[in-house]
Amino acid sequence: MIIAVDGPAGAGKGTISRALAQHFSLKYIDTGLMYRALAYKALAEGMDLTHEDSLVSVAKTLTTNDLQLPELRMEEVGNAASKIAVLPAVREQITLHTRRFSQEIVLPYRGVVLDGRDIGTVVCPDADIKIFVTATPMVRAERRLAEMVRSGKQPQPNMLEQIIERDQRDQTRTTSPLVPAVDATLFDTSELTIQEACQRAVAIVAEYQSVNSECLKSANGCR
Ligand code: DC
Repeated sequence: MIIAVDGPAGAGKGTISRALAQHFSLKYIDTGLMYRALAYKALAEGMDLTHEDSLVSVAKTLTTNDLQLPELRMEEVGNAASKIAVLPAVREQITLHTRRFSQEIVLPYRGVVLDGRDIGTVVCPDADIKIFVTATPMVRAERRLAEMVRSGKQPQPNMLEQIIERDQRDQTRTTSPLVPAVDATLFDTSELTIQEACQRAVAIVAEYQSVNSECLKSANGCR
């Protein structure tokens, strides 16, 4: 089973995807981490964030070890990731890595859940289930600030502006913009706690599984 979870920053994609992975025994791939790992290397080496060829060369060297650094979670790295993500050749390279990781599924995993911006539209257009997770910019900014306070970080005063700016860049880039796939289930988490959002997402997938096992039964003439 392949599940695509897309949506803007702070909508709850990561937590929802991890809950789905745990509930349905799936491998979890956070594709944003790959863009973040590349952005982090570029920032550390003082690279020009618009220089596509140099960024692609670094992207080719990324390994799973590069995805482990806690610094990748910093807002500054997320914003830089959004900037390099507008470059088509960078996206192509990261899409290649993502497809390779998603094909490395071994037991006990029964499939994969990927979270990102273009999973349902570009990376896995044939995913079994596509969920597009949203929440209002204000709710997402509040969640990010609460998360910073919880983890002992200094809350940033302009979080709402950063979220809006990142949405704008992710949604309007020419290559693989952040848009729901036509066959995605839209899921607004603004009014939900994270536990409620995870339960609803599990219910969406369980419903899909039950409908599909019914179709299979009827196709096999068992009903
Ligand atoms: O999900 P995230 O906040 O970790 O992602 C950081 C940035 O990476 C995001 O603003 C845009 C980019 N990204 C992307 O363009 N496509 C993806 N599949 C995942 C992330």
